[in-house]
Amino acid sequence: MMSMDSATLLRWRQAIDRRRSVRKFTGESLEPGIVGELEQLCETCAHLPGGGVRVVLVSGQDAGRRIFHWLPGGMATFIHRSSLVFAILSSGLPHDPEDAGFCGEQVVLDACSRGVGTCWVSGTFSRKAALSLAGAASSEHVVCVVAAGWPDPGASVRHKRRKPFSRICDTPPDALPGWMRGAINCVQLAPSGTNLQPWWFEVRGRASCTPEVVLWPRKPGWASGGLEIGPRRIDRGIAMLHFSVGASSGGADGRWRLDSDSDRGAVARFSVEG
Ligand SMILES: Cc1cc2nc3c(=O)[nH]c(=O)nc-3n(C[C@H](O)[C@H](O)[C@H](O)COP(=O)(O)O)c2cc1C
Repeated sequence: MMSMDSATLLRWRQAIDRRRSVRKFTGESLEPGIVGELEQLCETCAHLPGGGVRVVLVSGQDAGRRIFHWLPGGMATFIHRSSLVFAILSSGLPHDPEDAGFCGEQVVLDACSRGVGTCWVSGTFSRKAALSLAGAASSEHVVCVVAAGWPDPGASVRHKRRKPFSRICDTPPDALPGWMRGAINCVQLAPSGTNLQPWWFEVRGRASCTPEVVLWPRKPGWASGGLEIGPRRIDRGIAMLHFSVGASSGGADGRWRLDSDSDRGAVARFSVEG
C-alpha cells in the first residue's frame, strides 16, 4: 500500500516528532523547487483501499486570503498569510474521508521535513473559493484543506496535550513488539480536529508471528460523543498514516484494510505484509 524509499521514510518519521500546527505564516512564497516536489507528491501519494481523493496544491498570492479570509461580517481569520493551500477533493468514494487524512498527512509530513508549516482546516474556510481555485469538477466536493507556508518565527506555537498510551491502546507498551509500540507512539503525535484524538487500538495475536491491530473509533463501551462523520474520519486516516510510518520505521511494513461494518464501529485492521 505504501512503498517509499528509506530517505523519505526517515524524513517523515522525524517530521512526526517535530510537527505542530502552524497558523501564522510570513506570506513569503516557497521556492519553485519545493512547490514542484510537493505538487508531485500530491499526484503520487499512496491511497487507502476504497478511497480516491485528489490533493490539489493551490498557490498564488491571494489563494490563502480568498480561502481563509472569508468569514461572515468580514471578521479576521485565524490563519494568517499562508502562501499555499492544499485542497482535498472527493468524488464520493466510500472511504474518501479516511483517505483524505491518509493522503493529506503525507503532504503535511513532507512539507514539515522541508521546514514548511501546515495546519489542517476542516471547518472555517470558504469551500466555494477552494473548489474554484482547485479547479474541481462539478462532481467533486472539498473534504477539507491544509494551509501551508513559511512559519512566522515571531508567532508562538503551542504544544497540545496528548492522551497517554493507556487511553488509546488495550495493551501496555512493554507487552508489545517494538515496532507496534513505536507505531502507536507515532499516532500519539498525530494532529486531530480540536485535538480530540479519536482512536483506540486493539491488539490481536500479539504473541503470534502475524499480529493484527484493529483501529476503533473509541474505547469499547464509551459513548460516541457525536456522529461518525467529517473530521473524526479524517483524523483516523491521519492516524493510519502515522501508524504505517512508525511500523515501517520499526521494520514492519504492513497494509490497512477498511471495514464498513458500522454496527461494530470497527474502522480498520493493520497486518504485517510478507
Ligand atoms: C481534520 C482536522 C481538522 C482541523 N481543523 C482545524 C480548524 O478548523 N482550525 C484550527 O485552528 N485547527 C484545526 N485543526 C488543527 C488541530 O486543532 C490540531 O491538530 C490539534 O489541536 C493538535 O495540535 P497540533 O497539530 O499542534 O499537534 C484540525 C486538525 C485536523 C486533523
